[in-house]
Parts: sequence; structure tokens; C-alpha cells
Amino acid sequence: MNRTYEAIVVGGGVIGGSVAYSLAKRGMEVLLLEKDSLAGQASGAAAGMLGAQAELEGEGPLFQLAKTSRAMFNGLADELKIASGIDIELVNKGMMKLALTDREQQEHRRILEVHRQNNEVAELFTGDEARRREPALANEVMGALYLERDGQVAAPQLALGFLKSAEALGSVIKEDVEVHSFHSSKGKIIGVATTEGDFMSDNIVVTGGAWSESLLMEMGLPLITHPVKGECFSVRTEVPLLSSTIFSSGCYLVPKKGGRIIVGATVIPNTFNQQTTVKGISLLLENAKKLVPSIEEAEWEGAWAGIRPQTADGLPYMGEHPDYDGLFIATGHYRNGILLSPITGEVMADLIEGKKPSLDISSFRIERLISKKTR
Ligand code: FAD
Ligand code: GLY
Repeated sequence: MNRTYEAIVVGGGVIGGSVAYSLAKRGMEVLLLEKDSLAGQASGAAAGMLGAQAELEGEGPLFQLAKTSRAMFNGLADELKIASGIDIELVNKGMMKLALTDREQQEHRRILEVHRQNNEVAELFTGDEARRREPALANEVMGALYLERDGQVAAPQLALGFLKSAEALGSVIKEDVEVHSFHSSKGKIIGVATTEGDFMSDNIVVTGGAWSESLLMEMGLPLITHPVKGECFSVRTEVPLLSSTIFSSGCYLVPKKGGRIIVGATVIPNTFNQQTTVKGISLLLENAKKLVPSIEEAEWEGAWAGIRPQTADGLPYMGEHPDYDGLFIATGHYRNGILLSPITGEVMADLIEGKKPSLDISSFRIERLISKKTR
């Protein structure tokens, strides 16, 4: 068996999948190692919103990254379908951020201005206009900020689409193989030690989501990340209740294929515990009923949780280890890893090939949040 590759990707979530796919497209021989099952962690738990404008305000380096990534989805959906046969279920029907109070309406007016100043498309609806588009909305909805360009996908399908497309292009993908340490020589990475022995490469990319921090401690890199649990549930109705994604301060509702709706998500910091709790799910359900009362008639499907990888400043890490050539890191995508996955794959492939990425990634550099003293 070949144990030497041009690149090794550690982690089979949406970020690892995207990096492997971008590298495979550029003709590299890639090995991807996943300790559990593919898309089995945050990437399989996500609601799939491409909320560049709904989740971010319209300014700053993260918004530029998100906007560039969002624009890649139309082409990507076709590419992944052709390469892997997987439909990522891209829906371009926009997002409605609802206001139930005067204060929320005022806040939406402020955000509208920010988006417009940045030449982004955004529109304000009255409550009646919002209900004309989405008749299931409650009478209490006072207005909505409509973000036409924020679409959504099926998150597990996206992660699997990247991974299976990389495989179709010749990458080797192994589940149930955990990387526990690295091999290096004179400040250069040369391989990984795993539960199936050693695999060698001059380019290793850590995309381990919330588990990246503990792995990178092996290489003396005290990355600061925080695990943040998110719980979701899903229901189904015979006739679809919604067409656009509904977003509010208390929850979001994302309409999927076949009358399915995903309702998310709680935000519980500093835990790797993935149990769903009655407290979390009942809070989401109460909030969802305030927005779409008829959801209480829907058929219950199930509930789940995932762990988001958060960083201290809310920006992802994308770059190379400051002390080891060839050890690359892409993690910390927190609430937006699905949205940011296509651009992350391309940026990391550029860095590995020694090319300058097409957009400024200096805000995401690894060195910004580590203590020099501990290195
Ligand atoms: P993960 O998906 O966690 O993948 C990392 C993988 O690495 C795991 O499979 C893990 O087993 C593996 N791994 C770790 N260490 C090792 C090792 N040592 N050896 C081998 N394998 C290893 N984002 C959006 O853009 N839109 C949304 O609507 C959205 N909704 C969300 C809803 C919820 C409830 C949650 C929890 C998250 C949501 N997110 C959303 C965020 C998004 O899911 C994450 O940002 C993204 O999935 C992170 O991807 P990842 O590949 O870095 O991590
Ligand atoms: N972006 C949605 C979430 O993380 O819950």
C-alpha cells in the first residue's frame, strides 16, 4: 500500500472535504483521514444556511470572505453533481430576518443601510408584505429584512459532495483512522502517526474542527478555539410551510426538500457534550411557534447537536504553522463553516501550492492569537 502522498488532510468535515477537493482538482495525490465517520460532526449537524448577510453585517474581512464564498455555490452545485452524483440541494430563495419588536425593526433599518452602503442587495418588508410572501408567518411579525442572495444547501450533502468528488478525482479517503501526532525533521513536517500506522507527506492540513486545538498542541501550537454546542430539530409537513429561510433572534427555520424544516439552534459554549436537552429543544420550539404558529401541527422528525469551532476573535484560522513548514491549518469557522467552505478549500490549495490567494487573508493568519511565550 502507498503510504506517501502529496498532501494529507486531517478531518472529514466540510472544510477537510473542500480542501481535499480543491487539491485533487489541481492534480495532487491526496489522502484524507477521518477519526469517526465522514460529515459525522458539525458539518453533518448544520442547517446549511449561506447567511453571508444574515449572519454578518456587511463589512470587514470575514464578510468579504463570506461574500466570495457565497458566490461560488451556483457553479459548485453543478460541479459536485457531475463529479459525485450528489445533489447539494442549493435553494436560492433568500432569507427573511423577522422583527417582532420596534427595537428589532430599528436594528433592521440600521443593517439595511450598512448593506446598501456596501452595494449589497437588501430590502425591508412590512409585516403584511412578509406574510404575502410567507403566509405561515404569525400576525405578530411586524416586518422583515429580506436578503435575497442568502441561499441554503443540505449541509451533510455538501460535505459528502466535496469528499466523494475528491475521491472521484483520485483522492484516498479513510474513515475510522485517527491522527494522534506528527513527524517532523529540521522544522519541516514529514508525516502523521495514526491508529493505522504512519503516513508520509510534505504537506499536511489540519481541518479537525473543534478537535484541532488538542491535535495542534502536539506541535507546540496553542491555538485558541472554543467548542460551542448547537442543538437543532426537524419536522415535516405534507404541504411545505415555507419557501424562504426564516431568521430571528430566537431561532431560525430552514425549509428543506419534501416539506422538511430544520429549526436551530442553541448556542452553548465550552462543551464537547453532544446530547440534546429538553431545555434546548423546547426553547427552540417555543420560539419557532411565535414565528410560524402552525409548526405545532407538523410531524416530529428528530433532534441532534453538533460542536461549532469558535475562535477568540470570531475569525477562522487559515495558514501555515509558524514553526513547521508544510503544516497547514484551516479551522475555527464557527457558525459559518458551510458558507465558507468553498473559498477555504481554494485559499488552502493556493497556500499549499505556494501561490498568493486571490483575496487578502492576513486577518485569518495563525500567529494572531497565540501566545509567543508558549512557543
Ligand atoms: P467538523 O465538521 O466538526 O469536522 C471536523 C472533522 O475532523 C470531524 O469529523 C472530526 O471527527 C475530525 N477529526 C478531528 N480530529 C481528528 C483527528 N485527530 N484525526 C482524524 N480526524 C479528526 N454553518 C453554516 O455556514 N451555515 C449553517 O446554517 C450552520 N448551521 C449550524 C448549525 C449547527 C447546529 C451547528 C453545530 C453548526 C452550524 N454551522 C453552520 C457551522 C458549521 O457546521 C461548522 O462551521 C462547520 O461544519 C465546521 O466544519 P469543520 O470541517 O471544520 O468541522
Ligand atoms: N449558522 C447557524 C448556527 O451556527 O447555528
